[in-house]
Amino acid sequence: MRDHTLEVHGTHTYDRTGAISEPIYLSATFRHPAFGQSTGYDYGRVANPTREALEKTIARLERGERAWAVSSGMAAINLVLILLDPGDHVLLSEDLYGGTVRLANEIYGHYGIDFEYVDTTNLSLLQEKIRPNTRVIFIETPSNPMMFITDIAAVARLAHQNGAFLVVDNTFLSPHFQKPLTLGADMVVHSGTKYLCGHNDVIAGFLVVKDATSPEAQRLDMLVKSEGPNLSSMDAWLMLRSLKTLGVRLERQAQSALAIAEWLKEQPQVTEVHYPGLPDSPGYALQRQQASGFGGMVSFKVTSAALAKAILGRLKLIAFAESLGGVESLLTYPIAQTHAEMPPELMRRTGLDDKLLRLSVGLEDVEDLKEDLGNALSGE
Ligand SMILES: Cc1ncc(COP(=O)(O)O)c(C=O)c1O
Repeated sequence: MRDHTLEVHGTHTYDRTGAISEPIYLSATFRHPAFGQSTGYDYGRVANPTREALEKTIARLERGERAWAVSSGMAAINLVLILLDPGDHVLLSEDLYGGTVRLANEIYGHYGIDFEYVDTTNLSLLQEKIRPNTRVIFIETPSNPMMFITDIAAVARLAHQNGAFLVVDNTFLSPHFQKPLTLGADMVVHSGTKYLCGHNDVIAGFLVVKDATSPEAQRLDMLVKSEGPNLSSMDAWLMLRSLKTLGVRLERQAQSALAIAEWLKEQPQVTEVHYPGLPDSPGYALQRQQASGFGGMVSFKVTSAALAKAILGRLKLIAFAESLGGVESLLTYPIAQTHAEMPPELMRRTGLDDKLLRLSVGLEDVEDLKEDLGNALSGE
């Protein structure tokens, strides 16, 4: 089945009522027919039919064998890091979500895991940084917020040649546009809060593995069962409903994002535009090769920090808020919001500064979005 069909139907099998919409099972526990027998569901932390339907759908969309639906994107990333042992070394993209940096440095750094940030678009540099104890390479592509593109297949080869596994945060594109597991990655994580949800109304996360029989997958099963980070069945159902429109939303968002990126380039107050769908963008050719779309995220710099801050207060339609991927357009000021805790050294390396704004393009009419941005840029 092709993506749009999978997104609409998932793995839905009809129950005796013929319900088109997946039922929401709110039961925390399940009755056993007799001693030694089970319906397959015993206790809600371990398995819930609604959550299971969502997990199977996400696994199929990502072309993985197994997925876990958890309570946030950070809970999913936490599941990756908790697989590590003291003394392990992890290489991460130097441009990535600030919360991932915080989790790595502030939490797992204290457990003796060594995190190193590197420009993963530079393969020879990445190769130099690999050590005998490198266990994981963790990348975002496109990266947040500078939109750098990393070669997933090449990094997967490097990781495997050196006994490490590759994890891709696929939040910015979703499996509709990019399927890292088909390019060699071992795991995919998502902030499901973003495009997979698409309506700015659920906090969710996913971890998907290519091989359900790997030692990591077996351990993840045990971890999820033991620690209980699972998504509730109500939220699982909302996610299933959202997924039905994933492709339609994303294709339209990408179309509008390209139009806005082109328009931003013409504005006198805009000094840089970062969108991999612009043919002169450094990641354009690679992005075309490894993904089927460029996504709905655009970041740009304006002439001064004062103007960047003023724009946030002048917007009338676009909301000044953190997050992305929803039907409502949002403008974020990364240095004060999503990346507030980013070490200054990393920001210097990536170019993230106080003139940078990040736009998540929603489903509004693109002309209204340009008008709102235009008025905010010119102070009208
Ligand atoms: C790329 C990326 N990964 C992970 C996360 C964390 O996800 P959540 O906020 O759902 O915990 C975010 C949140 O903004 C993100 O942008």
